[in-house]
This record gives sequence, C-alpha cells and structure tokens, in this order.
Amino acid sequence: MVKRVQTQQIASSNAFAKWITRGAVLFLFLAACSWLDTIKDQWYVFTPESLHELAQAAVASAPTPSSIEHIIDHIVTNLTATYPPSVIALNPNTSEWVLNNAGGAMGAMYIIHASITEYLIIFGTPLGTEGHTGMHTADDYFNILVGEQWAFAPPNLQMEVYKPGEVHHLPRGQVKQYKMHEGCFALEYARGWIPLMMPFGLADVFSSTLDYWSLYHTIRVTAREMGRNLLIGKI
Ligand SMILES: *[C@@H]1O[C@H](CO)[C@@H](O)[C@H](O)[C@H]1NC(C)=O
Ligand SMILES: *[C@@H]1O[C@H](CO)[C@@H](O)[C@H](O)[C@H]1NC(C)=O
Repeated sequence: MVKRVQTQQIASSNAFAKWITRGAVLFLFLAACSWLDTIKDQWYVFTPESLHELAQAAVASAPTPSSIEHIIDHIVTNLTATYPPSVIALNPNTSEWVLNNAGGAMGAMYIIHASITEYLIIFGTPLGTEGHTGMHTADDYFNILVGEQWAFAPPNLQMEVYKPGEVHHLPRGQVKQYKMHEGCFALEYARGWIPLMMPFGLADVFSSTLDYWSLYHTIRVTAREMGRNLLIGKI
C-alpha cells in the first residue's frame, strides 16, 4: 500500500516536471519569435515608396492602359538595373507564371523575388476575381498596374477604389474583402514573415482545386528563389 502511494507520487512529480519543461520551451520559443520580429527590418531591401514610384513610372510608360506586358518589362528591367545580384536575387523570366487560388480569388502570379522576409510578385487576371485578402503576418502593398481593385472593410460601408498608379496598403493582421474588377494586374510587395503566408496561398489546392500541377510549380519556384537569396545571405 505504501509502495503504491510512493509510485503515484513519483509519477505525478514526473508529469509536473514534464509540463514545466514544455512551458519553458514554449516560453523560449515565443521569446525568440518576438525578438526576431523586432529585428526583421534589417533584411528588407525594397521600400514601399521606391516600388510605388517604379509602378507609377511603369504605368506612365505604357503605350496603352492595358499594355501589361510592357509594364512588367519596364519593372523588371529597372529592378535588375538597380539591384546588383550580390544584394538580392531576382527572377528575370517574365514568362514564368503560375495559377493561384487563395481566399476564393483566382489569378496568375509571376514571382519576381521571394525571400524569408520579402516577396515581390505580379498578380492578376484579365477576367476579374473576388475574395478574402487572408490574414497575414506581413504588410502588403498592392500597386495597381492595370484595371481597378475594389475593397471593402466594415464598418466603412463604402467601397474603396484603387486605380493604376495607386497603392493599396493592407497592414499586417488586417482583413478585407477585395475584388480585381474586370481585368486587373498589380505589383504586390509583401514584407514580414513570408513563409507564414504560404498556407493561405496554398490551402485552396487541398480544399478545392486539387491543382497539384500549379502547387508543384509554386513551391518549386518559391523554394528556388528563396534558396538563391539565402545563398547570397539575403534572409
Ligand atoms: C528605376 O525607376 C525609378 C523610378 O521610376 C527611377 O528613379 C530610376 O532612375 C530607375 N532606374 C533605372 C536604372 O532605370
Ligand atoms: C522561363 O519560364 C518558362 C515557363 O516556366 C520556361 O518554359 C522557360 O524555359 C524559362 N526560360 C528560362 C530562360 O529559364
């Protein structure tokens, strides 16, 4: 009888020690995360302001308002001339598009740059689409190149309208309903924790589209670009 009570006491003190350890590991993990969050800014290469200027110049250079190919060429040519390959890896292949479904919206994207703390893509569709922005761990700057983007965030019951040359800034943690009205393409710049955004960008494959071909290429190109950046020390 005495022996049984002792065994029970040892078992419960073991369980207690286990929970203390788990609590300590969780605490250290959260402390590391919040510390990383305060220093992430040092890895940013782009600025929202310079990309906004570039998007405006690209829009202004277009022979017609729907010349998206010309606008994209202007952006990529400028970026590759501005940033040396030792500072940031860029993907100059303007034919490398993948279809993407996220938050109920569908379009195609061309990844110009992807690293752990920043990404820069062209996203859009000539058909129009509508959905949820997703809740993100990064700040998002949506520079409209062609067409219009509409957005809705209650309690403001009037729609927000963004036109070519304008930028729609969605701060980290905020959510909206948005619509790429008719044909719309944008230069999207996100800065923050990019890998944590990926579940939103990929979840629709598993719950809806089953488009494993696009999933494969999205992961392949993203991993390749993140890898190229890590190789030059760009986090
Ligand atoms: C890139 O675009 C910016 C904004 O339009 C401009 O100020 C800069 O001179 C351009 N750089 C190159 C190398 O074309
Ligand atoms: C550019 O991307 C397209 C589509 O993925 C591919 O077929 C082509 O080979 C790529 N070009 C280069 C130079 O990598």
